[in-house]
Amino acid sequence: MSYQANANRYQTMPYARVGRSGVKLPRISLGLWNNFGGVDTHENSRAMVLRAFDLGINHFDLANNYGPPAGAAEETFGRILKSDLGVYRDELFVSTKAGYHMWPGPYGEWGSKKYLVASLDQSLKRMGLDYVDLFYSHRFDPETPLEETMSALDLVVRQGKALYVGISSYDPVQTKKAVDILNHLGTPCLIHQPYYHLFSRGIEEGLLDVLDTEGVGSIAFCPLAQGLLTDKYLKGIPSDSRLAKKAGFIREEEVNATNLAVLQGLAVLAADRGQSLAQMALAWVLRGGRVTSALIGASRVSQIEENVKALERLDFSSDELAQIDALAAKAKF
Ligand SMILES: NC(=O)c1ccc[n+]([C@@H]2O[C@H](COP(=O)([O-])OP(=O)(O)OC[C@H]3O[C@@H](n4cnc5c(N)ncnc54)[C@H](OP(=O)(O)O)[C@@H]3O)[C@@H](O)[C@H]2O)c1
Repeated sequence: MSYQANANRYQTMPYARVGRSGVKLPRISLGLWNNFGGVDTHENSRAMVLRAFDLGINHFDLANNYGPPAGAAEETFGRILKSDLGVYRDELFVSTKAGYHMWPGPYGEWGSKKYLVASLDQSLKRMGLDYVDLFYSHRFDPETPLEETMSALDLVVRQGKALYVGISSYDPVQTKKAVDILNHLGTPCLIHQPYYHLFSRGIEEGLLDVLDTEGVGSIAFCPLAQGLLTDKYLKGIPSDSRLAKKAGFIREEEVNATNLAVLQGLAVLAADRGQSLAQMALAWVLRGGRVTSALIGASRVSQIEENVKALERLDFSSDELAQIDALAAKAKF
């Protein structure tokens, strides 16, 4: 059946300005790292993307290597654009990245201009797009001069293949250098994509300060710790979970007795706030407005519907924050 977007899709989702740019992003965005590959059911992937869009999630995050196999998530997204979402292209904010291994030989990964430019060309073909809204350097390359990596980002913008550029998982010093080079080139860094959830708070030690000072936005990946910060594992390991499927980077050791007790405590606290654990974990990432958007993953439509409701309550009392800190400090990874 042909898809018609929900007429009310912009009524409840809040959009936040990304740093000091002209762009706004939904406070919750959808990433296609897992569950959108060639091994997954296309109808489920399509249903998740379309439901997300109907709920006001107009930012979809991809990378060259998402699948499996690598490249398949971009192909899936391309199929959905062709069948359903293409007519809404100007309402969408589509990102992709390059940095991890894609093809054999010396030009198939990291941060050379050779790799980044070729990879974006391949991504555009897979998605059937003329341009992406945002292109990222997926990881810092210690061997390539940062000037070269950043000049590749500048080049693809000048070529019209990307509108904005970003960096992912760069540390605070690397970030400051990258931002300075991009400013010098005249293509400012729009956004940083770091790892952040209530058990992993590294970005609070310097990175967020750099981003605030430089006017760069942030979009936090794995805000649910790949599903750990939900009620999913509280009663064992479901056979259809990411952990059971051995997908992503979630490890069985993380579901240990200590962490389960912490998660139970967090779930009680969440219930007191009228939220599920997943909703409270997302609200925690977005609290205070320092993080522009929380970049979730999903394996089914109902998770997206549950997660978006986190936005109904983003405020925390100092007592709630202290209780979360005390519980999180006990977790063992
Ligand atoms: N820049 C980078 O290097 C980098 C690295 C990793 C990820 N990312 C980006 O971040 C995105 C999100 O990463 P992520 O998928 O790890 O994020 P996440 O939101 O921490 O975890 C998503 C997973 O948690 C489970 N889940 C989600 N909502 C749930 C709910 N309400 N109840 C129960 N379980 C729920 C699902 O797993 P089940 O399959 O178990 O149901 C889902 O696939 C990726 O798609 C990608 O775009 C970027």
